[in-house]
Amino acid sequence: MCGIVGYTGTQNAAQVLLNGLTKLEYRGYDSAGIAVVQENSIAISKVTGRIANLRAKTEDGRLIPGLTGIGHTRWATHGAPTDQNAHPHASNDGKFAVVHNGIIENYMELREELTQKGYHFESETDTEVIVHLVEMYYTGDFKRAVMKASARLSGSYALGIVCADVPDTILVVREASPLILGVGIGENFFASDVTALVAHTRNAIYLEDGEFAALTPDAIQVYDCSGHPITKKTSRITWDIQAAEKGGYAHFMLKEIVEQPRAVEATMAPRLRNGQVVLDDLDIDLTGIRKIVITACGSAYYAGCAGKYTIEKLCRIPVTIELASELRYADPLIDEHVLLIVLSQSGETADTIAAMRECQRRGAKALAIVNVVGSTIAKNADYTLYTWAGPEIAVATTKGYTTQLTVLYLFALYAAKSLGTVSCQEYKRLLAALRALPKQMQNVLDMNPGIPKLAEKYHDTPSMFFIGRNTDYAIALEGALKMKEISYIHAESYAAGELKHGTIALIHEGQPVIALCCNEAVTEKTMNNIIEVKARGAEVLAVAFKGNQRIISLADDMIYVPKVDPLLCAVVEIVPLQLLAYHVAKENGCDIDKPKNLAKSVTVE
Ligand code: AGP
Repeated sequence: MCGIVGYTGTQNAAQVLLNGLTKLEYRGYDSAGIAVVQENSIAISKVTGRIANLRAKTEDGRLIPGLTGIGHTRWATHGAPTDQNAHPHASNDGKFAVVHNGIIENYMELREELTQKGYHFESETDTEVIVHLVEMYYTGDFKRAVMKASARLSGSYALGIVCADVPDTILVVREASPLILGVGIGENFFASDVTALVAHTRNAIYLEDGEFAALTPDAIQVYDCSGHPITKKTSRITWDIQAAEKGGYAHFMLKEIVEQPRAVEATMAPRLRNGQVVLDDLDIDLTGIRKIVITACGSAYYAGCAGKYTIEKLCRIPVTIELASELRYADPLIDEHVLLIVLSQSGETADTIAAMRECQRRGAKALAIVNVVGSTIAKNADYTLYTWAGPEIAVATTKGYTTQLTVLYLFALYAAKSLGTVSCQEYKRLLAALRALPKQMQNVLDMNPGIPKLAEKYHDTPSMFFIGRNTDYAIALEGALKMKEISYIHAESYAAGELKHGTIALIHEGQPVIALCCNEAVTEKTMNNIIEVKARGAEVLAVAFKGNQRIISLADDMIYVPKVDPLLCAVVEIVPLQLLAYHVAKENGCDIDKPKNLAKSVTVE
């Protein structure tokens, strides 16, 4: 996600902003910029790439003197990483500048309205509509103009806005994106998180959704959503910088596990409009498609394994899943009647890039589902749907996997609707179930406080088995990978029906088996497999819907998940497995965010 900072006081604002943005670099970004209020004007400097480029361009801020300003590190979501798309964005009259963290979901209609009213857009971003709205509503009252502009926005936004007519004032607005005020002496600050504040002050005011504030060097006034002044308490920041970067969590991985409901919401919400799945940038003609091939590596491949069930069930088109490292050399049966779906968090995985190019060479169109805007896969695919998970820092993917699945679910519904292979009633039912996913992911985080205790029980083992059937088996694949890559325990996932064909020979006294039982069509069968492995001494930890009474008598331990349609269950059912792997790795003293031998993006064969 983006990072925003702001300063008003007696120091060189540009230097304070550059240092603040440097503290936000860990969040991941691809461009940056600052705006400083000068005599009746606003000086803006923006770059693609690192903060170092901005320091060089502004000679460490010396070239744009001023005492009040705002700054931004951008993680591209709408529009590639370019100077034009970098923030801050200026109004046409140059009187205002804005920085923004979040996603404006109704930006397309606002952009149309503003364009018709004669406002000119410099960028492709959703953010730019904000600064033109402020200019449109400005009649001399800065606060009123910002209030009216904010009232037109839907989505998530933490905003910092400056106005050349009031050079020592910054207005900030918070809606569903974090925004913290730093209280100084003769100076005041704002930022996306405390890491950019603690060098100056540990006195903070945390804005709530709907609140906004006016900052001047000597005062901070907070207002409620209707513009009435309110009193907020000042908190003391006790975190050290390292803890602050992780939002107070011990590891980025845990922070990113917990962020998943918000990441899935951010990926899904802008694409659910008026009771429809709307995939703006997708104009694929599916009528000529006879087969869908999904290709990826690692967890992205396992996301495809889970998504396959949903696409096949709804679209009635055969879906095969191919490991990219195999597909690229397999002389694959690919032609113009194949739609290739390419899954990748980084968009830079060498095998996946090569597989995509080989399939395109054979006539297939490629639909990329990636998290990094402007990445190689995004740039070279025929169609691209972004996941809006924000930067994923931990090597072991979590929100990357669940947001990829979210886009696969959206695609399946969108395609089934256009192919006429889903009834209106089923479409509505699944749309409602989609909307409920973020809340159910949050529920599963809240339903299982006992996972650390389970990790204590199961962490000291040389191997683990993850078993399941149908969609549960696909989820077991990812659950086993999570366990392997961060706890270094040899974990294997097996189709539960396969046990008797050989693997059950490995089940010995005390062998941990994680049994996934969330697909009601096959739960009975999996419970029989639990009985089989229990009879050979296994210790079984079952994952099941709350209310499945019979399984309680069979398993040694339980993890509960809310009841979710099996076609959409993976994004919910994987969460406790991510947490289990995390806590087992913690018990084993592993380097959770940077597991040995692994890289965040495998850009070589
Ligand atoms: C997952 O936890 C691993 N980090 C790895 O398997 C990863 O999913 C794989 O390398 C694919 O990466 P990508 O999604 O960036 O293409």
